[in-house]
This record gives sequence, structure tokens and C-alpha cells, in this order.
Amino acid sequence: MKHTRVFYFSATGNSLDAARMISSGIKGSEIISMAEKFPKKAIGGKNESIGFIFPVYFEGMPRLVKNYIENLNIKPDTYCFAVATYGGSYMNTLGSVDTLLKTKGLFLSYAASVRMPGNYLTMYNPPSRIRVKSMLEKSRKTLAKVTDDILNQKIKIPKQRFVFISNYFNKVIYTGVGKWEKNFHVSEKCTGCGICAKVCPVDNIKIKNKRLVWGNECERCVACISWCPEKAIDFSRKTKGRRRYNNPNVKLKDIIRKK
Ligand SMILES: Cc1cc2nc3c(=O)[nH]c(=O)nc-3n(C[C@H](O)[C@H](O)[C@H](O)COP(=O)(O)O)c2cc1C
Ligand code: SF4
Ligand code: SF4
Repeated sequence: MKHTRVFYFSATGNSLDAARMISSGIKGSEIISMAEKFPKKAIGGKNESIGFIFPVYFEGMPRLVKNYIENLNIKPDTYCFAVATYGGSYMNTLGSVDTLLKTKGLFLSYAASVRMPGNYLTMYNPPSRIRVKSMLEKSRKTLAKVTDDILNQKIKIPKQRFVFISNYFNKVIYTGVGKWEKNFHVSEKCTGCGICAKVCPVDNIKIKNKRLVWGNECERCVACISWCPEKAIDFSRKTKGRRRYNNPNVKLKDIIRKK
């Protein structure tokens, strides 16, 4: 079996859960957080498979994932795979990974999507505990099949679908709405534990004079809101009274960025 590097990005644990499950089925594979490490040397080639596991954001890749793949130095003839975890709709997310790899002289050899609990609490209430359990059980079946396919180096190139609308959401709605930082509010329940700053994948939260200050690099990943142990963070009024979602198979320490 070829050496396999599984790159993942995960804010609330779904994509890490999926990456772990896939990696555990591929002997000698390595999982690498895209928020923590970036390989300086060229990777891939005939003897190494490369995978990307990440959540769908606005019908496409999270900005962090797109920038990461763009900057990676991947050798020709690499078996590249991508697995997108999503809550309800992923449109051309996987097609856009293929398009991005093509700009680097590569292509996406295998693409899969796995439905998992939706975490985007600024838009909706994440699912109940019972629903989460059944969704995750179902996702395991899909992931077992995906792992098997990757082990067998199956070729499954994603179709280009809903390209215009997908790009509109991901490029215009996602990147076009600025000033997110102004919408974060911290209630008196805050104990100053600093967890929100530690889980932020882009170091966008600073503690100044015992106050939390959000910068303008927000990925909108909702990790800060979802992992706050006091539920002290809200995004405008939209998240008030809504559940906070964290994948039950993933612990806070797994999400905290190791600097
Ligand atoms: C900013 C943002 C945008 C999202 N957009 C979509 C979307 O367009 N379609 C979808 O099905 N799920 C969307 N989701 C839900 C996540 O893709 C889904 O819950 C994912 O599994 C979370 O992965 P994680 O736990 O690894 O962070 C979005 C979540 C966030 C935070
Ligand atoms: S994680 Fe919550 S309680 Fe801890 S510092 Fe951040 S807002 Fe305050
Ligand atoms: S500030 Fe919060 S929502 Fe924005 S990137 Fe950091 S953890 Fe994610």
C-alpha cells in the first residue's frame, strides 16, 4: 500500500471524525491538520496518495482549504482524493476541488461527500442529540465504503454540477460579506478561559485588557461559538437559544490548535 497523507480541516469535529475513520482503515496513513501544518517540500507522486477532508462552506471549499491546496506543491501522477462533509447541500464543491487541482496540472482521482450534522447555527438550529446519533451512524456506513474505495485506488472523478450557483454562493456570498467580527457578542457568562481563541483556526481572536477582540480574518467556521463551554458567544441575535454542535466523537483538545 502507498503511503497516504490525509489533510483535514474541522471546526466542530465532523471532518476530523471522518478523517480519522478513513485514516484508521489505511495502514500507515498520516493525518495532518490544515490549520496547523504545511509541508514545505513537494508531496505525492507515484508512491503517495493525498487526501483532503473538509466541511462544505457556502456550497464550496472553506477559504482556508482553498488557499492550502492552492499553495501545496504536489508532484505529478498523484492519486488525489477529497471527501466533503456537509449538512444538506454541496453542489459543485467536489467539482471545484478538481478545477483547482487542474490549475496545478493534476486532477481529483476520487471524490465523495458524506452527510453529517449541520453545524451552521447562524442559519439554523443544529440537530438534536438523537438525530445526531442516527446521522453519525449512517455516515459511518458511507465512510467505510469510501475508505475501501481509496484503499483500492478507485477512480471517481466528480461531475461539474450547478457550477454557476455554487460559485455564486462560495465566491460572492461567502467572501463578499465583510465585517463579520462586528457581529460577535460575548455575554456576562464568559469566564475568560480563552478556549474560543485556542480553537480559532486562523488566530482571529485576541484577548486585550481581559476582553475578547475579533479580527477581520474570520473563516466563519463557528468553532468559537460552538466550543465555548459557557455558551457565552452569540453571532448577532441569530444564534440566541440555538443548540451548539460538536461532534461527540471529537474532544475539545483535538480541535485546539497546537502552535
Ligand atoms: C460557514 C459555514 C457554511 C456552511 N455551508 C454549508 C453549505 O453550503 N452546505 C451544507 O450542506 N453545509 C454547510 N455547512 C455545514 C457544514 O458543512 C457541516 O456541518 C460540516 O460537516 C461541519 O464540519 P466540521 O464539524 O468538520 O467543521 C456550513 C457550515 C459553516 C460553518
Ligand atoms: S470560550 Fe467562552 S467563556 Fe471562554 S473566554 Fe471565550 S467566550 Fe469566554
Ligand atoms: S473567529 Fe470564530 S468563527 Fe471566525 S474563524 Fe475564528 S473560530 Fe471560526
